[in-house]
Amino acid sequence: MSNDSLILGIESSCDDTAAAVVANGKVLSSEISSQQMHSRFGGVVPELASRAHQRRIVPVVRTALRKADVAPSDLTAVAVTRGPGLAGSLLVGLGFARAYAFGLGVQVVGINHLEGHICSASIGRSLPTHPWLCLIVSGGHTQLVFVEQGLSFRILGTTRDDAAGEAFDKVARLLDIGYPGGPAIDRLAAQGDLAFHRFPRARLEGYDFSFSGLKTSVLYYLNGLGEKKRTALMRRRLPDICAAFQEAVVDMLIDVLHRAIGETGVRDVHIVGGVSANARLRQRTEALGETCGVRMHMPPPAYCIDNAAMIAFAAHIRLSIGRTDPPGNPVAEPNLPLATFA
Ligand code: KG4
Ligand code: ZN
Repeated sequence: MSNDSLILGIESSCDDTAAAVVANGKVLSSEISSQQMHSRFGGVVPELASRAHQRRIVPVVRTALRKADVAPSDLTAVAVTRGPGLAGSLLVGLGFARAYAFGLGVQVVGINHLEGHICSASIGRSLPTHPWLCLIVSGGHTQLVFVEQGLSFRILGTTRDDAAGEAFDKVARLLDIGYPGGPAIDRLAAQGDLAFHRFPRARLEGYDFSFSGLKTSVLYYLNGLGEKKRTALMRRRLPDICAAFQEAVVDMLIDVLHRAIGETGVRDVHIVGGVSANARLRQRTEALGETCGVRMHMPPPAYCIDNAAMIAFAAHIRLSIGRTDPPGNPVAEPNLPLATFA
């Protein structure tokens, strides 16, 4: 098989073991092995996550290569998430990627997980050529980023407390509907009445976000009902509570985005990360795009959640613009910020 760029991507920053093959920016395969064992703890247990990555990484990579119909010797590079993420989880992916690339005699490209998400809405195409906005909404991050050509980032806003996905997960735990909470709330809210209750929306200066007050107001609302009423409500009106909570999160995200589009004058917007799979957010995003006359790009659901296609694709973009920083072999950087370049 002859390709200018044939990249194996590896992602293991949290609780998904993922591998993908991307040829000249096009995804040939994308495998994700999600670790269900964390659901009974209501959150990711780091020690269990890294052990599961160790067991799964080889079969997941094998499957990705097989489905792509690619021989390891055809690969031109191995891309791997170097941070941010759980140290033990990152180390498994990095250790594997470095050894595998060394064995094949190809380069290993360390990718910032957030850069992977930022690129994910353009997978299979090219990134916008003019400055654009990217809203990252995941379990660990909520950031509004101004992106210029050459993958130069300026963070315009960030969450002051919980990330948007974290708010979904915490409220789902209050409602006892499982982990991760986002998909469960999304499903229930589809049958609910979003006007059932108006939870408060935080509106901060600039482009920052805050979700912990909303989570607390759901808690106070439920506690304020008293046991009997609460039990009855949880049985009959769960979809309504989910829809009302979800609408508050979506309102806050859309409000910041609307202002930022107006003030920056961008023509393209990416919305990425696990929460961008949310059906109501996607609907409201499309509507905002029409109102503002901008192109809204959201990844298909398979590339919203953590995946390795976005890591391999980000490496493809980096290599195609000659960005090989930082020099040397990548190491695990659990608190890696989104690098900003002037
Ligand atoms: O990007 P991601 O897979 O992992 C991180 O990098 O954090 O995001 C996971 C987060 C979880 O908090 C999950 O509840 C949320 O994304 N999520 C959703 C949906 N699907 C996943 N939140 C709302 N609606 C969804 N459909
Ligand atoms: Zn992520």
